[in-house]
Amino acid sequence: MKVIAINGSPRKNWNTDTLLKNVLSGAASAGAETEMVYLYDLNFRGCRSCMMCKLRKEPRPDCCVVRDDLAAVLKRLHEAEVVVLGSPIYFSEVSGEMRSFLERFLFQYLNYDDYSKPLSPAKKTAWIFTMNIPESLFGEFGYSALFQRYANWMKLYFGHCETLLATDTMQVKDYSCYHLGCWDSDAKRLRHETVFPEECKRAYELGVKLMEP
Ligand SMILES: Cc1cc2nc3c(=O)[nH]c(=O)nc-3n(C[C@H](O)[C@H](O)[C@H](O)COP(=O)(O)O)c2cc1C
Repeated sequence: MKVIAINGSPRKNWNTDTLLKNVLSGAASAGAETEMVYLYDLNFRGCRSCMMCKLRKEPRPDCCVVRDDLAAVLKRLHEAEVVVLGSPIYFSEVSGEMRSFLERFLFQYLNYDDYSKPLSPAKKTAWIFTMNIPESLFGEFGYSALFQRYANWMKLYFGHCETLLATDTMQVKDYSCYHLGCWDSDAKRLRHETVFPEECKRAYELGVKLMEP
């Protein structure tokens, strides 16, 4: 089985990347062929609304027809059995690159004749979101609805979605070097040393679970 992770964080080896790597390790331990795609390494844009994927033409193109760095990735994603999407939360949304990616990934499958029946192949999918705020602030910032909305899209398009959240993440190694005064650096470090490894373990287990029939 092919498992592809799409990384919507610009920072390699940080929170989102580490969790995605754990998902891929878990999937690999269960026999998956895995691949990580770093969106910030690619030259691509969001959907241009060219409408080529909606033309009344047979055969209908399987994938978005725009030829940029995302084209080959979209083809591989079309074939993959499992897709894992990871993004940091930026201004209470997924990162800009992740958003542009989603436009391209999902619009090609959107069915304007019947919204409830997208033209996408069934897959297992998962979301990993990492963020600064603790879960106690989700109500104030509307984050539960945000994560539900992204999971619902994946369920509608691919029939399945799991979500893993990493909250209150460590944003920099040494808080004393930056203007980040609203965060308690000791609490951030402690959480990174005690809770983040647990989140990594859950990510690994998620990878194993995604491989189950
Ligand atoms: C431009 C920017 C905007 C951010 N906005 C938010 C936000 O709205 N809510 C939040 O909880 N964290 C926010 N963060 C913090 C990141 O989501 C958090 O540090 C995340 O874990 C970073 O992921 P990474 O380590 O994979 O880069 C923001 C960070 C940046 C750089």
